[in-house]
Amino acid sequence: MSEEKKLFKVTIDNITVDVEPGTTILNAARMIGGEVTPPAMCYYSKLKNSGGKCRTCLVEVAAGSTADPRPMPKLVASCRTTVMDGMIVKNITSERVLDARAGVVEFLLLNHPLDCPICDQAGECHLQDLSYEHGKEGTRYEFKRRTFKKHDLGEYIQLHMTRCILCYRCVFTADQLTNKRVHGVLDRGDHAEIATYIEKSLDNDFIGNVIDVCPVGALTDKTFRFKNRVWFTKPVDAHRDCSKCCGEVQLWMRGDEVFRVTARKDEWGEVKDSTKGGPGWICNECRFEKKDAKDWTIDGPTQVNRHSVISQGHYVNVVKPKETLPDVMGGRGPKLLMNIHTVSEVNRPEIELSKIQGPAHSDDFKNSLDNGK
Ligand code: SF4
Ligand code: FES
Repeated sequence: MSEEKKLFKVTIDNITVDVEPGTTILNAARMIGGEVTPPAMCYYSKLKNSGGKCRTCLVEVAAGSTADPRPMPKLVASCRTTVMDGMIVKNITSERVLDARAGVVEFLLLNHPLDCPICDQAGECHLQDLSYEHGKEGTRYEFKRRTFKKHDLGEYIQLHMTRCILCYRCVFTADQLTNKRVHGVLDRGDHAEIATYIEKSLDNDFIGNVIDVCPVGALTDKTFRFKNRVWFTKPVDAHRDCSKCCGEVQLWMRGDEVFRVTARKDEWGEVKDSTKGGPGWICNECRFEKKDAKDWTIDGPTQVNRHSVISQGHYVNVVKPKETLPDVMGGRGPKLLMNIHTVSEVNRPEIELSKIQGPAHSDDFKNSLDNGK
């Protein structure tokens, strides 16, 4: 008869959960979800050995275990600390944690440029969310920020090292998903930078995934850069038969146009497991070369779980405003509705904006037509 596995009881912010021995505090908190879960800028559950670099996930251990209930003297990195039976953890209920986290945000922003208005990652940047939620107004830093030249890492990826927070996720991705890693962290301390050795390009089949794991705008997709703000695009789930990867992606569309292809993400911003099993990493061909809606079978609108600005363009569970005409007309319908399409000087006359599928695109308006001539 198989022996039943003993589970550990851990209490995080007064909520108790049973977890398997060996679970980290962070993953136990993810089982509870919501605000109890510490933010994580470097840990990535699908990448072995990730975590322990950024310190955003610090928590207070108020009691180590039932056997030894002494508190831990220092705050600990929840992504690297495993739970003990009877452990009591404080995250948002600890003043020390909130203060330390504000300090970590300040450190992360010492050299990070505040260029969100022109950064492609704006709207889906974990550092942007982190600083809104845990940072303080203003900075005490008065010195020159560290800057680097922009680098093209091969045909599809742009490295903007000035924005990098040295989380190492891209290094682990290249190590664990591709068979020849040619980039890593060079130099030490203030000089440390992500670089390819003698500027070799990153051009193997799965390297595009470094863009998805990068929590900030340091690694961006050159086929999408500056084409659109992410909150103006509509994410839909789609798939295709691909011989290299699971072929399950998220298309970021505007009208019928596919602006960007990414892997599907879960509520922690990590790549989701594919329906075929294992993490749903996608290949470069699906990501960079299949930009026609006809290449894909659309499964439906993506459920956006993160409460970021990208959920603004989110059109699942939309509450439609009440039809006001019958109210205004005392229950009667209008006798005559003017057809604005025949008099509008803005859109192309042959296009009825209310009838096109999805949001209007610049091609639907007159100026873009004139400019295109
Ligand atoms: S480039 Fe992005 S993923 Fe790589 S270490 Fe820097 S922040 Fe992390
Ligand atoms: S997520 Fe734990 S140290 Fe970065």
